[in-house]
Amino acid sequence: MEQYASVLNVHGRKKSLETTLALIRTFADTLCLHRQASIQGGHFQVIPSAKFSDLEDASVLITGGGSGIGAALTEGFALQGSKVAFIDIADEPSRELCDRVEKSAGRRPLYLNADLRDIDALRAAVTAASEAHGPITVLINNAAYDQRHTVDAVTPDFWDENQAINLRPHFFTAQAVAPGMKKAGKGSIINFTSTSFMMNNPDMPSYTAAKAGIIGLTKGLAGRLGYDGIRVNAVAPGWVITERQRKLWVTQASLKAHVDKQSIHQVMYPDDLVGPCLFLASDAARMVSAQTLVVDGGYL
Ligand SMILES: NC(=O)c1ccc[n+]([C@@H]2O[C@H](COP(=O)([O-])OP(=O)(O)OC[C@H]3O[C@@H](n4cnc5c(N)ncnc54)[C@H](O)[C@@H]3O)[C@@H](O)[C@H]2O)c1
Repeated sequence: MEQYASVLNVHGRKKSLETTLALIRTFADTLCLHRQASIQGGHFQVIPSAKFSDLEDASVLITGGGSGIGAALTEGFALQGSKVAFIDIADEPSRELCDRVEKSAGRRPLYLNADLRDIDALRAAVTAASEAHGPITVLINNAAYDQRHTVDAVTPDFWDENQAINLRPHFFTAQAVAPGMKKAGKGSIINFTSTSFMMNNPDMPSYTAAKAGIIGLTKGLAGRLGYDGIRVNAVAPGWVITERQRKLWVTQASLKAHVDKQSIHQVMYPDDLVGPCLFLASDAARMVSAQTLVVDGGYL
């Protein structure tokens, strides 16, 4: 562009061209980048530039919202002006997140300490969130436990425990929020699945079974709850580099091999899931239901 500018300057048009170029850059930033990236205190943050006005003051509940992708969602919705509650068992990161989000978004999320495997505790947390913020109109079932396991090591108890965090809460949170959404006349439920089961991942058959089940659950709930104006969709991330992934499984070689196979050759971070979830949560996706949105940098 600069080369073209100097060429055109010969014809005495540099000033107006510079103005045009500035406009084009602003336009390109808005259209193509659609987000601002910044490093804040070592925390990589991608803030979607889009503002969804219907999410302002919306009552949003996120499971596992205290760390990993969930923490990015908690912050992302708070930055939209939503009233965010999240359920988690990880106490320290959850409290730290509340302090950070209060500073960045000017609004403190409500942290509810509960083990999602305990259905009574799950129900009590949903009630507490609705009492604090009004009927929940956006539910994000994000919590999971991606513990690796071999086929031989799986016992019936292990299997049940694994499903008790990776699949069962998705149903019971939906069941608990549905009456409030029905009353509100609308609702968006977003269930986190994973591309791992579509890639024949060999390291966690119970987890991948749950993740495939989530798509069936999403479609079954969408068909039923759609009568009440409630949309139910799934989001399937590819490999997202969270602190936990970094600590346990990321090596330079494995990450490079994965990113090389993506269409977009960039590492994916928790914040990259924020925009897709905001879209599915908002009225912008009014007629989108029973779908799975794959967010994997174009791996599949
Ligand atoms: N990170 C990835 O590469 C990746 C890839 C595909 C799908 N996903 C999916 O995205 C979602 C988020 O993944 P993540 O990598 O951020 O996970 P994570 O393990 O980093 O975070 C999960 C959160 O859930 C909480 N949690 C776990 N068990 C709980 C329980 N019993 N009760 C309450 N809270 C509990 C944890 O404390 C944590 O805050 C999951 O559904 C996961 O399956 C992640």
